[in-house]
Amino acid sequence: MSARIRVVNLDQFAEVLPGLAALLVDAVDSGASVGFWAPLANNDALLYWREVLQGMVHEDIVLIVAQDGREVVGSVQLRLSRRQNGKHRAEVQKLMVHTSRRGHGLGRALLSAVHVEATYRGRRLLVLDTRTGDTGEKLYESMGYTRAAQIPNYTVEPDGSTHGTTFFYHVLP
Ligand SMILES: CC(C)(COP(=O)(O)OP(=O)(O)OC[C@H]1O[C@@H](n2cnc3c(N)ncnc32)[C@H](O)[C@@H]1OP(=O)(O)O)[C@@H](O)C(=O)NCCC(=O)NCCS
Repeated sequence: MSARIRVVNLDQFAEVLPGLAALLVDAVDSGASVGFWAPLANNDALLYWREVLQGMVHEDIVLIVAQDGREVVGSVQLRLSRRQNGKHRAEVQKLMVHTSRRGHGLGRALLSAVHVEATYRGRRLLVLDTRTGDTGEKLYESMGYTRAAQIPNYTVEPDGSTHGTTFFYHVLP
């Protein structure tokens, strides 16, 4: 794994936007449950990332990207709670590694990077959810996350079939 992992700031967003859109299309079209149905149009992926940009502008979202050279090979987001009583928590969202790079520790490295960033921002309680039975569950458990609950029929596919989701939390030291 030779990817460089970094927090992307507003000035750097335009540079990584095409790669982020391609990463999301790759994830959705390969069957990941990240909020969209396959096939995902590149324009819809771009629109999604522009929403993320708005979150970054409002300082709600921290975007972390893994790049190999200029190629975007992975990404994860930290959504910071804005609630008065929730300034200690954040949600880990859309952990994705390009299909061509999976299984080499990049997902784990991105999650570690998000933990560093969360600690830096004083967000020690992390929450996330992932489709029940997906690879992500093993990764989160191996990184110390606790399985909190499982909700059946949480997502629905175009053919009407449904999937459950599992909620996890993790308290950083
Ligand atoms: C989940 C995901 C980010 C993992 O990325 P990755 O770079 O392949 O993960 P890593 O190589 O760091 O593996 C981390 C751990 O995940 C688990 N894992 C990864 N690939 C696996 C596989 N094919 N089968 C079973 N477990 C697997 C293992 O526990 C692994 O730890 P180990 O190598 O010490 O055994 C990646 O599969 C992905 O992008 N999936 C699609 C998007 C998604 O579902 N995201 C999560 C929910 S939002």
